[in-house]
Amino acid sequence: MSSRSAWRALHHSAKCSAFKPATPYRCFSCTRQAHESKSEQDRMTHFGFTDVPESEKASRVGAVFSSVASSYDTMNDLMSLGIHRLWKDHFVRSLNPGSPPPAGPHRKGWNILDIAGGTGDIAFRMLDHATNINHDIETRVTISDINAEMLAEGRKRSINTPYYNTSRLDFVEANAEHMPHIADSSVDLYTVVFGIRNFTDKQAALNEAYRVLKPGGVFACMEFSKVDNPVFDAVYKRWNFSAIPMIGQLVAGDRASYQYLVESIERFPSQEEFRGMIQKAGFMIPGKGYENLTGGIAAIHKGIKPIVRA
Ligand SMILES: C[S@@+](CC[C@H](N)C(=O)[O-])C[C@H]1O[C@@H](n2cnc3c(N)ncnc32)[C@H](O)[C@@H]1O
Repeated sequence: MSSRSAWRALHHSAKCSAFKPATPYRCFSCTRQAHESKSEQDRMTHFGFTDVPESEKASRVGAVFSSVASSYDTMNDLMSLGIHRLWKDHFVRSLNPGSPPPAGPHRKGWNILDIAGGTGDIAFRMLDHATNINHDIETRVTISDINAEMLAEGRKRSINTPYYNTSRLDFVEANAEHMPHIADSSVDLYTVVFGIRNFTDKQAALNEAYRVLKPGGVFACMEFSKVDNPVFDAVYKRWNFSAIPMIGQLVAGDRASYQYLVESIERFPSQEEFRGMIQKAGFMIPGKGYENLTGGIAAIHKGIKPIVRA
């Protein structure tokens, strides 16, 4: 989908999804119900710097990723000067997928859920690491993403990997905030990389992460974050807000989507706030809870599901 048609579709869906009056109610409590459901529908969230009804955010984010899916890698390289690859390698190494547990019998590989896994960048790295470093050919990854176009790119790319059409890799289209198809306590490692800032209800997604992880399972998130040095921050913001939308326009013919991407980075909570949200979902926080990358441009957050909930 071209950027222009994506934004036209957005505009159209915004018009079509305007609030529809609820069925008229007669009694007082029902009138209250009607008001409550109206205010629920009218609850606002942010889409970059724009406030939008919560019910619209997912489709707007969907249009962005449908539009950027085919140029996603090139754009990531240009936007981060290739650094995102080093961050992703470091993220996977720090998790050491496929390693045997420190004690007890060797599990039959890890069951990994890569949320917002899009084009498969993290999933393929994790399978490579498990296979080549830990000689584990049992570990498997489910790539879950809300966007069919991003998943299609991932599927296409998987053809060139040894995991294509094997039980070690599968793809699921789902919203991370609600995954009834994934059983409670069934996942060893839950990863979400550069995805969660796009979610409408981030706390709901963290609660789902907690639910699906086994006790002792690990939640790991890498996301753009807050730069700690003010001088570096000023340079970084200038790069983000002037260069990135322009590169988006030149390379992908899509300024608006890249404008959203930088605005969504700005709106994402600080390292400390996000750590608080992970704790709120029930996770134990190891050490400080996060590791800054390149001065805080990105950060890796981790949480562990306690064996017995306090
Ligand atoms: C910036 S991409 C990251 C892709 C991949 N993890 C990477 O690092 O290359 C963000 C992804 O989040 C997905 N996404 C956005 N909202 C989502 C949601 N509510 N549930 C699941 N995936 C979502 C998008 O479709 C997109 O594929």
